[in-house]
Amino acid sequence: MNRDVEKILVTEDELVQISKKLGEQITKDYKGKKLLIVGVLKGSIYFFTDLSRHIDLPCNIDFIQASSYGASTVSSGEIKIIKDISEDLTGFDVLLVEDILDTGKTLKHIHDMLSKRNPESIAIVTLLDKPARREADIYADYVGVDVPNEFVVGYGLDYDQFYRNLPYIGVLKKEVYTK
Ligand code: IMP
Ligand code: MG
Repeated sequence: MNRDVEKILVTEDELVQISKKLGEQITKDYKGKKLLIVGVLKGSIYFFTDLSRHIDLPCNIDFIQASSYGASTVSSGEIKIIKDISEDLTGFDVLLVEDILDTGKTLKHIHDMLSKRNPESIAIVTLLDKPARREADIYADYVGVDVPNEFVVGYGLDYDQFYRNLPYIGVLKKEVYTK
């Protein structure tokens, strides 16, 4: 285990099972639809690639990047779109893929922005949900697993751009971000 990690919350095996289970559910729900899966960069990339391989349907993929955090563990609340999607959303059933739903401000901003572009529907799948921290009026249609109110890293999630490549989700030791 990485020495900055206090404990593992979601193991590699559990992550495999989560993608498989959600992928199968999404495959059922989106049969016959015009699916576009949109990964929210950068945090969702590991989950996005694993999940999408369990979606047994024709689909398009795209990416969007927003930022609010910087080198901090709390959201600044001010969302900037750094990279927009390149597809025209008209007629697509859009599925936003996120790493973690925390205050919800990021996804609320992205959801409201994309809603104005004529999609057939927009839904959200998030690997992790921290419901205790929700501020914006937004919920996920599909949730991998609920996590407690602790700062987590790994499998795409970062602190100051590090730890994304850990193969599990772990709680970051407080001394790492309080020093
Ligand atoms: P929100 O706008 O507060 O919901 O924040 C969403 C974004 O903040 C996520 O996409 C993550 O990139 C980041 N984030 C929130 N909580 C954590 C965490 O515990 N670890 C790492 N990143 C987090
Ligand atoms: Mg992020």
